[in-house]
Amino acid sequence: MKFFVDTADTQAISELNDLGMVDGVTTNPSLILKSGRDILEVTKEICDIVTGPVSAEVVALEADAMIAEGRKLAEIAENITVKLPLTWDGLKACKVLSGEGKMVNVTLCFSANQALLAAKAGASFISPFIGRLDDINLDGMDLIQDIRTIYDNYGFETEILAASIRSVNHVQEAALIGADVMTAPPEVIRKLATHPLTDKGLEQFMADWAKTGQNIL
Ligand code: E4P
Repeated sequence: MKFFVDTADTQAISELNDLGMVDGVTTNPSLILKSGRDILEVTKEICDIVTGPVSAEVVALEADAMIAEGRKLAEIAENITVKLPLTWDGLKACKVLSGEGKMVNVTLCFSANQALLAAKAGASFISPFIGRLDDINLDGMDLIQDIRTIYDNYGFETEILAASIRSVNHVQEAALIGADVMTAPPEVIRKLATHPLTDKGLEQFMADWAKTGQNIL
């Protein structure tokens, strides 16, 4: 499973990237706001840190304007993935931009039928939002499973990018289902390394080691 980090915080991206935990980055207008940075400037900085796909989202709502914004964002670096919302205009823009050889991530996907349309429009990635479905008492994982089944049934190459991941359980469930990629905030990626029994076991080992009176170095 590829790990994308869902942030525009360049320091957090750098730290995780140094550990080999970053296969790509996703951003959105809310994350750009949170960074307090200029979109073109911060996105360029991210593309200089990470070699994998970096999603940068258009903000136009009409296809021609989305295409123009997508082309401009794609000029930032070769690893830019143009992020488009799952609307008819977004699908039109997806068809054009993917036809030009640009990577496209179709975002705000909440149904398997939407995912089917994105694949037919040539999307490189489809982003089903797990957490936001859970927020309204639906099961986001059911959507990931349905999309996996449909894409496998017909051999679509669009990668399933499990998004809006809020917990370590989301990561594990998406991996078990076979999502190609997951994108999560840095804190969720860091939490994947933690387990209470690891902490407890380490505490015991340290206490016993101190009693030996030995040193390794
Ligand atoms: C993905 O590309 C989105 O930026 C992100 O996962 C949305 O997550 P949220 O629902 O926690 O805002």
